[in-house]
Amino acid sequence: MAAFDHRQQPYYKNVTLTAPDMTDTLTASSLGSFARGRRVLVTSALPYANGHIHLGHLVEYIQTDIWVRFQRMRGARVLYVCADDTHGTSIMIRARQEGRSEQELIAAMSAAHQRDFTGFQIAFDHYGSTNSERNREYCAQIWGALRSADFVVEREVTQLFDPTAGVFLADRFVKGRCPRCDTPDQYGDSCDHCGSTYSPTELKDPVSTLSGARPELKSAHHLFVKIEKLRGFLTEWTQEPGRLQPEIANYLKGHFLADELRDWDVSRPAPYFGFEIPDSPGNYWYVWFDAPIGYLAATSEWCDANGEAFDAWWRSTDTEIYHFIGKDIVYFHTLFWPAMLHVAGFPLPKRVQAHGFLTVNGEKMSKSKGTFVLASTYLEHLDPAHLRYFYASKLGPKVDDLDLNLEELAVKVNADLVGKVVNLASRTARFVKESGLSQEYPEDGGLFREAAASGIAIAEAYEACDFARAMRLIMGLADRANEYIDREEPWKLKKQPSSAAALRDVCTVALNLYWQLVTYLAPVLPKLAEQSEKLLGGSLASFAAAEQPLLGTPVAEFEHLMQRVDSKKVEAVMAATRDAATDAAASAVGVSAPSPTSAPVLNQPFEDDGEALAGEPLAPECSFDDFAKIDLRVARVLTAVVIPEANKLLRLTVSLGGEATREIIAGIKSAYAPEALVGRLVVVVANLAPRKMKFGVSQGMVIAAGPGAAEIYILAPDSGAKPGQRVH
Ligand code: 2FM
Ligand code: ZN
Repeated sequence: MAAFDHRQQPYYKNVTLTAPDMTDTLTASSLGSFARGRRVLVTSALPYANGHIHLGHLVEYIQTDIWVRFQRMRGARVLYVCADDTHGTSIMIRARQEGRSEQELIAAMSAAHQRDFTGFQIAFDHYGSTNSERNREYCAQIWGALRSADFVVEREVTQLFDPTAGVFLADRFVKGRCPRCDTPDQYGDSCDHCGSTYSPTELKDPVSTLSGARPELKSAHHLFVKIEKLRGFLTEWTQEPGRLQPEIANYLKGHFLADELRDWDVSRPAPYFGFEIPDSPGNYWYVWFDAPIGYLAATSEWCDANGEAFDAWWRSTDTEIYHFIGKDIVYFHTLFWPAMLHVAGFPLPKRVQAHGFLTVNGEKMSKSKGTFVLASTYLEHLDPAHLRYFYASKLGPKVDDLDLNLEELAVKVNADLVGKVVNLASRTARFVKESGLSQEYPEDGGLFREAAASGIAIAEAYEACDFARAMRLIMGLADRANEYIDREEPWKLKKQPSSAAALRDVCTVALNLYWQLVTYLAPVLPKLAEQSEKLLGGSLASFAAAEQPLLGTPVAEFEHLMQRVDSKKVEAVMAATRDAATDAAASAVGVSAPSPTSAPVLNQPFEDDGEALAGEPLAPECSFDDFAKIDLRVARVLTAVVIPEANKLLRLTVSLGGEATREIIAGIKSAYAPEALVGRLVVVVANLAPRKMKFGVSQGMVIAAGPGAAEIYILAPDSGAKPGQRVH
């Protein structure tokens, strides 16, 4: 029986590609579908609201945005929607840790996501949220259809439960030793060391990453979709030529569809941040149930805002629906999602286009290695157009991973965009500022005609998502245009007054060849296209711009079109990323903090002066019995929230182990962010009489040193200590 949850070896972990080596099924024969009036609905996967956009995410959004812009330039009517994916345990836990509501958290994250996307010129028509009323309505509609068609079944499920945090634990919230190879610190679903997959209940010495507690097994009621009933339909749908990349279609056929499909668990018991299932109180739709429905909701919201009929966009068989996704979420989009749409009577996607992962310098992106570059960090230092071009030059139609090396990016952008493309305009535009372009197109040895004819091959490459091939074709044209300029040497003609007409002709050719290049590059480099429209006065709204030369038209004052990539700025991005990683590591304490493996070597003398002691002389001597009255205990911080009305206070819940908890109001806000405290061990005065304070009763005291403000240092026991142990 084929498993269907995320413990199943996902597509991306299985690298055996059994597909024949064919490029893509969309080739010249489908160019006929470029007719105007084609209606195209495009989505990118909805980013989770529990983290910021990084350069790995951008592979997909840049890929989709380029494809969308290309379709528009070919005359299609395109709607491009996306939304934040807001539900699930992670968001709930993060909101708890930050001491704010889930709604506040997701609103802030949505604003940050949209800022980053805009910064990279990713232009959605609508950006929604899965936590919208419209999404709830569509969830209910699809749920109703599944119920009516008898697709829903109910069963008890036994899962790991964190007794301290009070939540059921998704696989990524459990860590322990691999049941196969014994490697420590592995997640609940698979081992990074030996690659095996397993159930979280098999992990040895499991620990909840939320609280450090040992998880318990607990049963709860769950709802399942009997997807096996659709195996025949899904086999046909996934194997339809052109629907999926061949390697993915083969993978699904060989790994899932060959065998009985296991029921899909679509509910989670409370507490859960999501939509409560109307006919099953206390149960919530699993985040992966409501996330893709967000595509429908976002489309519907856009339709309302723009006076368009939803049915014309999603209910019509005239609309072509395209989903762009990463290879890790293939089975959600090619099995569950089509199943839901099919049962509810919606038309299905025409194509699901998956891409590989981003590696940085040949390795998985890593916070600790300082290669986890955030979109916002990149934007502070470098030009988004450069990354768009770099990704385009690497993205093929297959599901291969893509490597980013910022030095390589600098070399490529400087050589191709600055050296070959922009240079054509910067070397000639000034010479024709007074005269404008020639009235008739000069003899150019067939260069313009050749570049115009290349439009078909370039368009085919874009259509098939083979952007790398499109960029190679364009740069081939750029090489020939540069050879022309090098041959004609307009800078020499400029020095001979008798050659004014020749100079104008050479520049007319050069600028028209440039114009063709920026037409073809416009989906990738929309800003350069806009600047070029200002310079040469034409319109780059359509690929047809590359077919007719601009003649007799004025040329505007030349303004800088693109800067070279400065290696200092590249280094600044990497340095800022490393710094952020170091800061995060310094504040990341608690169960997952790595423990030192070798003895530290003291290689510099301590310079501890006597200032602190002089500032607060020792208290009068006390007896051992006096000291023994104070019961100091190890405790673990379970929750930490700011008290908004108070300047200095955090409200902590600490665990003394088992059921024993204390609520402590601590004046440490000036030195500690609440999220830096959750999970860590502290020492508390456990038998201090409760104190009534303005914002509640404090049931103890967290032991800390330092004079105050930023200088507060919480005392932490060495690792191995357990909540409840007495400090003697
Ligand atoms: O993998 C992810 O990042 C998910 N948030 C994607 C959801 S896509 C869609 F189905 F909503
Ligand atoms: Zn292992």
